[in-house]
Amino acid sequence: MPDDLTVSKEGTRQEKYESLIPQLDKLLYGESNLIANLANTVATLKEEIDFFWIGFYLVDSEDELVLGPFQGPVACTRIKKGKGVCGSSWQKEEVLIVPNVDEFPGHIACSSASKSEIVLPFKQNGKIIGILDVDSNKFDDFDKTDQEYLQRILNLIP
Ligand code: SME
Repeated sequence: MPDDLTVSKEGTRQEKYESLIPQLDKLLYGESNLIANLANTVATLKEEIDFFWIGFYLVDSEDELVLGPFQGPVACTRIKKGKGVCGSSWQKEEVLIVPNVDEFPGHIACSSASKSEIVLPFKQNGKIIGILDVDSNKFDDFDKTDQEYLQRILNLIP
């Protein structure tokens, strides 16, 4: 249960990922409802690692994502394939790490406080069904370590 999450507020981000992964695994285990699992995944990450915004955009049609479970300020509801960081990650089927969102052509600014972001395609059974978007209010806040841990977290989702 979420009450049992024990992640120190003191450690490095990597230590927090290491600590929360087995706990999240337990939390998700045995639950097959996707929305519940996505909601608990972003709530855990937001609670334990103080990201500015974290959420899923889910594939809603062949060319559009729609906002899914998220934590943080209100966000844009729909993103077209190829648009912004999320739509580009979906189209290219690759992880995008953007150190300065102002320098990303076509970045969709849901909040002017967002400065850098990482976006990962979210696959189930080999097919992209959404993307995970994590935004920071600091420049250059994400690297390959975040990519590695966030990918491991996506792989936990049943
Ligand atoms: N950063 C996204 C838009 C979504 S919000 O940041 C929550 C993008 O440019 O795709």
